[in-house]
Parts: sequence; structure tokens; C-alpha cells
Amino acid sequence: SFTVRIASSGQSVTVAKDQSVVQALLAHGIEIMTSCEQGVCGTCVTRVLEGECEHRDLYFTDAEKAANDQFTPCCSRAKSAVLVLDL
Ligand code: FES
Repeated sequence: SFTVRIASSGQSVTVAKDQSVVQALLAHGIEIMTSCEQGVCGTCVTRVLEGECEHRDLYFTDAEKAANDQFTPCCSRAKSAVLVLDL
């Protein structure tokens, strides 16, 4: 598991192995708009302020993934222990 932190509120949410970031946030009342939930459409794209993303989408180019400043929380995860999201 890893933790996502909401930059605006400082709230931390643990993301379990068997849940997506979107699911974990929703369980804490934080809703992110989704559509495909498979990393294809880009609807859920969220800016990342700190931490290292583990990109699992087909939406971003390799260069965009390497920039490490946005990710798709419907399917992507974190390599670092904490990911700070611009929410
Ligand atoms: Fe389509 Fe996340 S909902 S990429």
C-alpha cells in the first residue's frame, strides 16, 4: 500500500493493494471524475506535486510519464511511499 496526500487539505488516504487511488479517495468522500477506468481516456488525470508515480495507463506519452507531474488515478499507483496530489 501507499499513501496519497491531498495538497489543499493535508488529508492522507491509504491506498490498499486491491483498490485504486480513485476508490480509496471515494471511500473518504473525495470524488474524482472517471470514465474508462482503464487508463485510456484521460478523464481522471490529476496533477502530482510530490512523490514518484507508477504509471499504468495508455494515455500519456513516455515523455509525459517521465515528467512525473500528472497521473491517472483510476489505474496508476505510486512507487514512493507518498504521493501528494494537487487536489
Ligand atoms: Fe479514463 Fe482514468 S478514467 S484514464
